[in-house]
Amino acid sequence: MAKQEDLDEVRKRAENAGLPLKEGHNMVFGKGNPEASVMFIGEAPGEKEDIEGLPFVGSSGRELDKLLMSIGLSLNDIYIANILKYRPPENRNPSHDEICTHTPYLIEQVKIIKPRVIVTLGNFSTKFVLGGFSPDEMKRIEGITALHGKLKKIILGDRTFDVIPMYHPAAVLYNPRLRDELKADFAFLGKIIGRA
Ligand code: URA
Repeated sequence: MAKQEDLDEVRKRAENAGLPLKEGHNMVFGKGNPEASVMFIGEAPGEKEDIEGLPFVGSSGRELDKLLMSIGLSLNDIYIANILKYRPPENRNPSHDEICTHTPYLIEQVKIIKPRVIVTLGNFSTKFVLGGFSPDEMKRIEGITALHGKLKKIILGDRTFDVIPMYHPAAVLYNPRLRDELKADFAFLGKIIGRA
């Protein structure tokens, strides 16, 4: 239970930090199993997530649930959090300042959970993680089209994490042709963690 307690403590600090975007919104901190060996990192909460205070509970979440099921995983096998802890207006892209102020809490979550594999969903999360968890290094990282489905490694603190970038599940909703690629990347994840 220690990891859950540590996460609760980080959550409390994040809630009291007066983060940008907090005004009028619920915090979306994370969900899943703190003992999981796979951690997913998305971009930012949408409308449904803001209402429920939980990540990936709207249409992207339904897509993600199906993909997890396709390799025999459930919420109990993973932990999931976002780059931003609050919903940006009209779901616009996260700003540099928002990324700088919100991600220290995400980094704490990664250090507590210590997943074997980090799956980054979409461009922002991929660039942040592969840029060494540094907002300032994000611009030197290639886009998701070039990186998706490739196994990368990144060091954070005294640990090396496997990273698999993937398209954001929302991208599939706009461009159904990406669904096969996302499914193939999930199958690859299944292989890496010994599920498929
Ligand atoms: N998209 C994300 O990146 N995160 C969520 O929590 C929901 C949609």
